Amino acid sequence: MFESYNFKRQDQNLWRELKILDSDLVDFCTNDYLGLSQDEDYKKSFLKELRPASMGASSSRLVPGLSQRHFEYEKQAALFFKSEQSLLFCSGFQANLGFFSSLPAEFKIFSDQNNHASLIQAISLSACSKTIFKHNSIEDLETLLEEEVEGPKVIVIESVYSMEGLQTRLKDFWSLALKHDAFLYVDEAHSSGVFGEQGRGLSEEMGLDLDHPKLIRMHGMGKAWASQGGLICASQTVINFLINHAKSFIYSTGVSPLVVEQLSYNLEQIHFIDQKRLKLWSLLQSLKLEFCFASESPIGIKLLGAEEKAIQMQMQLEKQGLVVGVMRWPTVARDQAVVRYVVKAHHSLQDIKNLFKFIN
Ligand SMILES: Cc1ncc(COP(=O)(O)O)c(C=O)c1O
Repeated sequence: MFESYNFKRQDQNLWRELKILDSDLVDFCTNDYLGLSQDEDYKKSFLKELRPASMGASSSRLVPGLSQRHFEYEKQAALFFKSEQSLLFCSGFQANLGFFSSLPAEFKIFSDQNNHASLIQAISLSACSKTIFKHNSIEDLETLLEEEVEGPKVIVIESVYSMEGLQTRLKDFWSLALKHDAFLYVDEAHSSGVFGEQGRGLSEEMGLDLDHPKLIRMHGMGKAWASQGGLICASQTVINFLINHAKSFIYSTGVSPLVVEQLSYNLEQIHFIDQKRLKLWSLLQSLKLEFCFASESPIGIKLLGAEEKAIQMQMQLEKQGLVVGVMRWPTVARDQAVVRYVVKAHHSLQDIKNLFKFIN
């Protein structure tokens, strides 16, 4: 039964398998934007300081008693990300799932066409009415919003679209949300730690009112922050609602205290991490000048179309010692396969020159 589905995927060049990244190769495929996950100084200093109160969360956060550090971290993170409160989920996927699947049915959801699979899945579980607007199109969204005058609304976007590296028109979406009295849910998975002062994200960089009750941000902790978790930053009212309704929060064991220690450590070491972020932006600036690198983020893509072509390019690059990602259907549209690469703070100009020589 399952075999036929597996064969079909293989036949269509859509087969996925788990691989280990060869440490001799230059990693252009992961989302370790600041190079933090492999940074020896960071690893050593964190492990030296590590004093977890317990090794496992042992239960859902709703079971009292063990999760003091979680509360402390959420306060610390809310202060850092300038929201009234925050709530830590085990992953960004679970945070998105928790929010949208628990949204009361009277809400109307307006979601960008290119939103991440976790948002699509989350929204599909919601009882609300759903409208998809054209990718990054304020104009399309405005027309749709004007047709829906009644009832509470939430607009859902990503700050940086991970499959294309594009920044959303965040200021315009925010103005539109305010004009229509809608909530704006911004998935900052690919901008948290990379954009904004000290890595507070694109909403901060674009000057949004971070503690506004209509703004809800999801900061992914698994990418630039080299850790794990999805942190929803919002008003105390929204956070209280999630604690009472979000099933992926309520019926799941809390984030490991070891992870919470690391998340908290990251904020304590923000000056060290900020140096990495500044290094990344200075590298991106050089790439703009030297190679006309046009992306608005550290993410670059090369559109190849046919799945087979993208896989071949990936294999050729691997022979040159460079590992890139290949994005195929259903992650992107059919016959729109791309090679995706991520510039990181610790890359040398030579690494990137090598990549561009083969890719362009
Ligand atoms: C835009 C976006 N949102 C959410 C997620 C899910 O986050 P996590 O990996 O923490 O589950 C991802 C992960 O790839 C993502 O790219």
